[in-house]
Amino acid sequence: MPSFLDLGETGAVAVRAILDAAHARKAARAGRPKGAPDDDAPLAGHVLASIFEKSSTRTRVSFDIAMRQLGGSAITLSSGDMQLGRGETVEDTAAVLSRYVDAIAIRTDHHAKLTALARAASVPVVNGLTDDTHPCQILADVLTVEERRGKPVAGTTWTWLGDGNNVCHSLIEAAALLGFTLRLSTPPAYDPDARFVRAAEAMDAKIEVVRHPQEAVEGADVVVTDTWVSMGDRDRNKRLVALAPFQVTEELMRAAAPDALFLHCLPAHRGEEVTAEVIDGPQSAIFDEAENRVHAQKAVLLWCLGRI
Ligand code: CP
Ligand code: NVA
Repeated sequence: MPSFLDLGETGAVAVRAILDAAHARKAARAGRPKGAPDDDAPLAGHVLASIFEKSSTRTRVSFDIAMRQLGGSAITLSSGDMQLGRGETVEDTAAVLSRYVDAIAIRTDHHAKLTALARAASVPVVNGLTDDTHPCQILADVLTVEERRGKPVAGTTWTWLGDGNNVCHSLIEAAALLGFTLRLSTPPAYDPDARFVRAAEAMDAKIEVVRHPQEAVEGADVVVTDTWVSMGDRDRNKRLVALAPFQVTEELMRAAAPDALFLHCLPAHRGEEVTAEVIDGPQSAIFDEAENRVHAQKAVLLWCLGRI
């Protein structure tokens, strides 16, 4: 059964099927209590183990709720409480958990740990964020935009402002797979990893590097940013200075399309990457985006377990 490690390797057909299933299941359970299972409870009796080597609010809770809604359950583990945190190998951890549970999600630092876990596990593994990528987040972002606009994202224009980080890398992969234009507005020292841009360009993706933030947001349908200091980053002061010109302000939002949406994966730092007026304003879709983590991950789990 397939793991969900990144959007690129999952591929356009599966990513579209996952998004469509997420939309449909979300619509079908409208108005139900949040923990109530869907009618078909397709993962009844199934268990997900989620391992966290870094902090999390949304990913941790949304995976648990996703499993409940699918009729299954989740065990959430902090690596510090596991033997993994005392040096047990990722491979042995994967083999043991595969005897207990039906799927494993992990949030970790080095992407190689995720891929090693997936190789050693005999159950599907889901990427809950690494230093390199955050694919579940971008599925939720795409769901949010499609829901608000009432149509697929193909043909829209998104602008990423600030740090070319893990979330940005997954957005680049999504642009290539789903056919939207992505303008990257980052200072050169915080450009996304060139291998993501090269891979997207090899697929004829519409990726544009537009250094000037005002120019980058001109007419955009979606403006998206993230923290300037990701978990594990150590150069906070340097980052605050270099990234200051990329703050999302009301003035920048005025240059975007009149109905442009503002997205942020959260947690946010008001007054740093975005002003309070924008993130708490009418164009912000941040809480739909957070809710959609549940719906996106339900579809990911169903895909991994052969139900899509
Ligand atoms: N956006 C996101 O992944 O949030 P958490 O770090 O709270 O999981
Ligand atoms: N780029 C951020 C995302 C947090 C959800 C980080 O890696 O810390």
